[in-house]
Amino acid sequence: MSNSYKIITYGCQMNVHESEKIAGMLENEGFTPTEDTDNADVVVLNTCCVRESAETRVLGNLGILKKAKERKPDMKIIVCGCMTQADGAAEKLKKRCPFINAILGTHNLYKLPELLHDKAKKTRVEITQEHGINENIPIVRTSGINAWVNIMYGCNNFCSYCIVPYVRGRERSREKNNIISDVKRLIADGYKQITLLGQNVNSYGNDLQEKNENFPSLLRDLSGLEGKFRIKFMTSHPKDIKTETVDAIKESDKLSHFVHMPAQSGSDRILHLMNRKYTAAEYMAKIDMLKNKLSDVGLSGDIMVGFPTETEEDFADTLKLVSSTEYNNLYTFIYSRRSGTPAASMDGQVPITDKKRRIRELIETQFSIGNRLAEKCVGNTYETLCAEYKNGKIIGETNCGKAVTFAGDANLIGQFVNVRITENKNSKLYGAIKNE
Ligand code: 5AD
Ligand code: SF4
Repeated sequence: MSNSYKIITYGCQMNVHESEKIAGMLENEGFTPTEDTDNADVVVLNTCCVRESAETRVLGNLGILKKAKERKPDMKIIVCGCMTQADGAAEKLKKRCPFINAILGTHNLYKLPELLHDKAKKTRVEITQEHGINENIPIVRTSGINAWVNIMYGCNNFCSYCIVPYVRGRERSREKNNIISDVKRLIADGYKQITLLGQNVNSYGNDLQEKNENFPSLLRDLSGLEGKFRIKFMTSHPKDIKTETVDAIKESDKLSHFVHMPAQSGSDRILHLMNRKYTAAEYMAKIDMLKNKLSDVGLSGDIMVGFPTETEEDFADTLKLVSSTEYNNLYTFIYSRRSGTPAASMDGQVPITDKKRRIRELIETQFSIGNRLAEKCVGNTYETLCAEYKNGKIIGETNCGKAVTFAGDANLIGQFVNVRITENKNSKLYGAIKNE
């Protein structure tokens, strides 16, 4: 029996890592990876529903898979991830695409192995609201020298535009000992960068019995582990990032000086409607704290344009916040109406033409800021982790999260070297290894 699999992943790092768990379960069952989707025995779609565009792409891909399955009727098509968990979504999907073999909710992923052997003709749907944590799911890592490690699942914030709390459930933190033993094992296996994942890493531990289990103490414990490696984390909600967290970063030589802290908007009125629980001034105070404590901090963020009722004045406030923050990288989004969220039923939905014009302006503003910051790096030297070898060059990441390309051999992958930045070309940095 041939038994190949292909996983198609949509959405964020959380999903990328979840696909590594799906791969782990499939390989445990004797399946091997293939890039040939049309001839795969099992195709898994790991979906996202944060924006409509991701959903549209999933539906488009299902159309293509339907044809592939007509040619290869024993192909198993499994759909999992956020899109399946939204209210009523699984039933709709089942009706629209009856050729799907199984639909698995975000809390039911561990059921995958048993579904592989299910011979039923009808679509099997496994969706529950139980919010647990499944330790011990095997993982096939696909991100080179970087290893993703979940520290928590779910979100309690209910930002008014966001579907995540509905499809991922409430915050559940993993036990600290489990995280530490995972990281120890990964370091022993040779991983050089550990990226801690959570929708809101700064509220790690709030739901645990142990009183002093919080994010700064987790960071301190992890940076006390033996070996030369780097720790990163994402995402930080501005209301929850504390000075203790930044002090833990400052005091450790293992923690990356890169922080991803989404602002979403620079208008207090919009931030209030978004239920973000901070003002633009409070956001800027956190940015100043980061810059003061970590002089070389690298910043990234998420900004959304076209939230209901957003005016030109609100948008101007957003541009102001973006200019003052000076992000090295910015992820920009057009507000997408997600049914079931409070914002979806708000009056004053913004016309798409305004949304598009604003996002263009935002991207242009950020481009010139990013380029100016990149220009300022020329001449500086950074400790850089050699991450990838491509076309005779190494792509590395500095200790403050900047990507830099430089000459070097493939055997440097996984090593830390000092790189002097020699050139900035349209915000892309180039450099050379500096030998002391
Ligand atoms: N529309 C557009 N962008 C959204 N995001 C979350 N929900 C929506 C939505 N409904 C963006 C936010 C978040 C990022 C992961 O996705 O900016 O930080
Ligand atoms: Fe969504 Fe807000 Fe939670 Fe982020 S913090 S996952 S934007 S609800």
